[in-house]
Amino acid sequence: MQSTFQGINHSTFHVAVIMDGNGRWATSRGLSRSEGHKEGSKAVRRVAETAPTLDITTLTLYAFSSDNWKRPTNEVNHLMALFYEFLYAEKERCIANGIRLSVIGRRDRLSLPLRAAIKMAETATSFGQTMHLRIAIDYSARDSILRTASRLETRQEISRELFARLLAETNHSGAVDPDVDLLIRTGGERRLSDFMLWESAYAELVFSEKMWPDFDEDDLAAAVREFHQRDRRFGELSVLV
Ligand code: FPP
Repeated sequence: MQSTFQGINHSTFHVAVIMDGNGRWATSRGLSRSEGHKEGSKAVRRVAETAPTLDITTLTLYAFSSDNWKRPTNEVNHLMALFYEFLYAEKERCIANGIRLSVIGRRDRLSLPLRAAIKMAETATSFGQTMHLRIAIDYSARDSILRTASRLETRQEISRELFARLLAETNHSGAVDPDVDLLIRTGGERRLSDFMLWESAYAELVFSEKMWPDFDEDDLAAAVREFHQRDRRFGELSVLV
């Protein structure tokens, strides 16, 4: 959680979340999948508000994978509309709470109004210092890595640090982002689904049985507590031995 950037030590805590289970939450209640996504966006607000109180400095939420384009058009359109609404509705709250809001992933397949909303929210919140909230839309970790690699010159000397910087550029993250410390997946499945593959090399994984719309402040706090109990060795021997 300590990182050195431009010679300054920063204490960072990066939590990434695969928000899974909106559809099952809805269908188990006889509702449409879109209702599940709508309820899921309320959980996004709850979790984003609680995160700074748990000393989370970067929160990355997986909202739409590049493979999600394969879903029915009405579900995709509904999700895109939710993202658009979210960016406009949350801008003021983010400014008031010192939250910097960014969107990572490909932009070229998003509609022009959504791209404009992203730009507007990123510009308006760019001075936020309390936490960096990143929403992953049209995101694929493997595509990001490939697109970054394809920008390298053949004989270029490449270090992990340089690659991470280029990867952040590919993802529209701006500066280098800290590695993921804690990766949470809701909805009971135990897989990474092409999310943050480079950045999660040493992430601690926590899987929750709860469907995303039910995931609340206490669940986030419990996942963070579990993280703090883990013995992170990064390949070295434990200091506890
Ligand atoms: C996965 O659950 C969830 C998604 C593909 C969409 C995530 C979107 C939100 C949480 C709401 C909107 C977000 C923002 C940032 C406003 P699923 O639909 O695959 O659920 P299932 O596995 O139960 O079918």
